[in-house]
Amino acid sequence: MSAALLTGTPLAGRVAVVSGASSGIGAATARRLAELGASVAALARRKDRLDTLAEAIRADGGTALALPVDVTDRQAVQTAADQVAEHLGTADLVFNNAGVQLISGITELRMDDWQRQIDLNVTGVMNVIGAFLPHLKDAADAGRTADLITTSSIAATRILEKFSIYSGTKAYISHLTRLLRVELGPQNIRVATIEPGMVDTELPSHVTDPDASRLMAGLLTEIDPLRSADIAETVAFITAAPRHVNLTEITILPTAQAI
Ligand SMILES: NC(=O)c1ccc[n+]([C@@H]2O[C@H](COP(=O)([O-])OP(=O)(O)OC[C@H]3O[C@@H](n4cnc5c(N)ncnc54)[C@H](OP(=O)(O)O)[C@@H]3O)[C@@H](O)[C@H]2O)c1
Repeated sequence: MSAALLTGTPLAGRVAVVSGASSGIGAATARRLAELGASVAALARRKDRLDTLAEAIRADGGTALALPVDVTDRQAVQTAADQVAEHLGTADLVFNNAGVQLISGITELRMDDWQRQIDLNVTGVMNVIGAFLPHLKDAADAGRTADLITTSSIAATRILEKFSIYSGTKAYISHLTRLLRVELGPQNIRVATIEPGMVDTELPSHVTDPDASRLMAGLLTEIDPLRSADIAETVAFITAAPRHVNLTEITILPTAQAI
């Protein structure tokens, strides 16, 4: 069944940036925002995936820019922000979504996995904010609707064994959102975070701990999980709301997920 709640082109004229757009939630959101009228810049490392996505958006009559970038590289993200300005204009919708989940028991000391999660889920998220906040500020100052939305997780609040580092990074994002909203709301920049439960994407495929990997795969088959399109529609709903409405923290779970 389709997740679509919105119709028409309520995002016409908007310039959207989506990180983690080469698969899963980001790819579905880039497609949906374009369908609803936004011009979309798609950021991730896999250029082939981004090119295919951008071609599909253009084939549907939309506007898309594929920007292969590793968001842990601050200078590369700044260059991407400059390219967005040059080709699409000032971004007024940023979906800061790239993330990685590498769960493992803490005594296994998988410190490379700890570092990757911190580098992407914290530093990468901050690099995107640093590069695109001037866009959002300019857009808001010009009277346009401006949105900064970051993908957190229910792991930000749930106590889940082996999720320590991932949960820590997502708790950072959820609390960061509350704090940024205090500063940016009065400047007419809406700040939001989405905390999804289980979504059927590539995310579990990166887990290096075989026990944790089996646990994730098992959970996905036990219940009917969310689809990426469900999260895409949530982003669309947040961004299509009237300018004075800021939906700030949205938890979205598969109906059958118990925790
Ligand atoms: N799936 C779930 O159950 C679930 C639940 C709650 C929250 N989330 C969150 O949802 C977000 C999206 O994940 P997903 O589920 O859609 O998984 P996914 O399909 O694995 O997507 C992750 C995206 O991040 C990109 N990425 C990874 N490293 C990157 C880097 N260094 N620079 C730029 N982009 C990078 C990946 O593209 P490249 O590899 O091409 O760079 C990919 O597009 C993540 O923040 C995740 O924590 C997911």
